[in-house]
Amino acid sequence: SSGDTESSDGAAPADGGGDMITVGFAQTGSESGWRSANTESMKTAFSEDNGFDLVFNAADNDPAAQIQAVRSFINQGVDAIVIAPIVEDGWDDVLQEASDAGIPVILEDRTVSASDDLYASWVGLDFQLEGQKAGEWAAETFTEPTNMVVLEGTTGSAPANDRATGFDMAIEGTPIEKIDSQTGDFTRDGGKTVMESFLQKYGADEIDLVYAHNDDMALGAIEAIEAAGAVPGEDIMIVSIDAVHDGMQALADGKINYIVECNPLLGDKAAELVKAVLAGDSVEKRTIVEDQAFDQEAAIEALPNRSY
Ligand code: AHR
Repeated sequence: SSGDTESSDGAAPADGGGDMITVGFAQTGSESGWRSANTESMKTAFSEDNGFDLVFNAADNDPAAQIQAVRSFINQGVDAIVIAPIVEDGWDDVLQEASDAGIPVILEDRTVSASDDLYASWVGLDFQLEGQKAGEWAAETFTEPTNMVVLEGTTGSAPANDRATGFDMAIEGTPIEKIDSQTGDFTRDGGKTVMESFLQKYGADEIDLVYAHNDDMALGAIEAIEAAGAVPGEDIMIVSIDAVHDGMQALADGKINYIVECNPLLGDKAAELVKAVLAGDSVEKRTIVEDQAFDQEAAIEALPNRSY
């Protein structure tokens, strides 16, 4: 599918008229609970009440469709473009086209490998630190020989790349051995399917630990582990990243053992950056939003007050 574009008033994308700022937002898709929370945060921040006419596109995790969406924003002559880039590579040409058209680009959530001259600013998370925190928990928890399998995020995405790097660095020199690693594309179904194949290949008894690059894949893995007759969180321990509601509930229930947060509430900061850039103000090139980490006790305490 080539994704789905909608303008905030349901009509064909237009220039918004008046004082409204027309912003094209190229979202990755709707792969996870995290993504739903991020989309909601963005739609709320880029609302008409805040002076925006938002043209929203979700690319269904297809990098080519996402680049096409950005090109169509350029052709429509929007005032600014916000991108949550599915993958890191492949952005140079279209970012240059936006720059040539005089349309500023703000990145949110994920990063790109292109030169930072090609975009005005980025707001997001320190994915490598997230992976490192997950790895530090594993390094402290597993002091005996441990077989680990990894459920990777979308291949080529900044969070999949950086969460692998951070985790691997943290477990270096420990008795944790990565026996397999496959992408589950950040989806619940993907995590379930890949975990089923790991269980079939190695047997539940041979797997001690799952590192899932996001909660949705961990939730899929839980289903696969239970279907194989093993107990998630006990027979096979699980560490994941995001801290969305369903993940936190599984942590509170003892089915996941540790979660590092990835904060999806980036909308307000992204909207502030767009306004500042269009006003000609100088802005920070990088804004990193801080993440927490939770064990079971912390999850039980935090759950009632979480907004996503
Ligand atoms: O880029 C952030 C990642 O994308 C989140 O961890 C994951 O759930 C989402 O799909």
